[in-house]
Amino acid sequence: MDKLRITGGNRLEGTVRVSGAKNSTLPAMAASLLTAEEVLLTNIPLVADIRTTRRLLGELGVRVEFEGNHSVRACAETIVSNEAPYDLVKTMRASVLALGPLLARTGKARVSLPGGCAIGARPINLHLKGLEKLGAHVKTEHGYVEAEAATLTGARIVFDKITVTGTENLMMAAVLANGTTVLENSASEPEITDLAALLTKMGAKISGAGTPTITIEGVRELHGATHEIIPDRIEAGTFLIAGAMTGGDLEITACEPAHLASVIEKLREVGVAIEAGRNSIHVKANGKLHAADVTTQEYPGFATDMQAQYMALMTQADGICVIHENIFENRYMHASELLRMGAHIRIDGSRAIVAGKTRLTGARVIASDLRASASLVLAALVAEGETVVDRIYHLDRGYEKIEEKLQSVGARIERVK
Ligand code: EPU
Repeated sequence: MDKLRITGGNRLEGTVRVSGAKNSTLPAMAASLLTAEEVLLTNIPLVADIRTTRRLLGELGVRVEFEGNHSVRACAETIVSNEAPYDLVKTMRASVLALGPLLARTGKARVSLPGGCAIGARPINLHLKGLEKLGAHVKTEHGYVEAEAATLTGARIVFDKITVTGTENLMMAAVLANGTTVLENSASEPEITDLAALLTKMGAKISGAGTPTITIEGVRELHGATHEIIPDRIEAGTFLIAGAMTGGDLEITACEPAHLASVIEKLREVGVAIEAGRNSIHVKANGKLHAADVTTQEYPGFATDMQAQYMALMTQADGICVIHENIFENRYMHASELLRMGAHIRIDGSRAIVAGKTRLTGARVIASDLRASASLVLAALVAEGETVVDRIYHLDRGYEKIEEKLQSVGARIERVK
């Protein structure tokens, strides 16, 4: 198993380029199931979750070829299976994104139930309830969800709770349904808008993506399309915090500043100088940071996917910070590892209280999930001495060549095989 060895203390300076969004590429690849024609996606990140999606689509009969550096062609001319097996779903829960498009295209889908994960129970009940509203017959047996529908019929669906992949699954099911579907209390993350843009290029009729009400008029069939994936806002946010924590001077390029508005605002409050350009963000920090509270929320609020990194930042800010994790019930696994590096953090239910500024010292730590891993890397960048981060397969799921990108701006970080 690979590890990262990091020696802290270097200020990060220079330019770092952001990759395409993992959480946009996953539904976009699943959307290729909706048409017999080819879908070409550019600006995809080369991360493990994308390779897992390729395997999943391959098992369903989709021809998937990576091209050039950051493109993928997917052609679902024939679908040979409608099952997303347990082995794939357990490595990547976003495999549930096959459910909506498979059902819409073939009338049947069998997808392993993902079960809980390191950040919470993460049920998919709202995906299933929505599919039932569209007329699907859904049953759960032997750990699998089986959904069947000779035809799907448009309906009004009000989500009890905002769900990102739930909204995506329902959008992908509704594009081929008879009649009009209205999704209310939908997620409005940029990844939803990006999926709607791809589906529209494929011939779907969608309005309101990016707002809580999405209206979809079903069409008989979709066709191929070419689509450029949006930049990864969480990767960009992680580099912003790396710049802020190390007292650095970083230019983050190929990103979309508008998607990071809440993070930028919070970092300014903390005392970091940030200038947003058209597709770049300049971050400059003089080392003096003040604590500021944060509550994670759905977009455009402060993303839960930035909470762990923000906690690492707060260990370096003067004062007391209260973090409120509103989206997932168990997303503080990184706190106990940060404690081992010298941080002062207390967890109280969904709140975390961080007292800073603390001197961090390098230690052996274990990554528990993707964003937790990122927070440990950030802490290691400012810790005295050497940190070894174990189980970085979590990090590799969503960050493309993070060690090379950080090295290029001055970090002492290497991958140990
Ligand atoms: N929820 C339900 N029932 C459902 C669906 C969700 O109760 O049927 C609850 C969840 O348990 C959670 C909340 O609703 O408490 C929001 O979950 P959501 O469904 O929005 O999460 P997700 O779609 O499973 C996506 C991202 C996550 C990100 C969350 C929140 C992808 C592939 N994953 O997950 O990304 O944290 O939205 O923004 O898009 C990551 O990239 O590290 C990551 C975990």
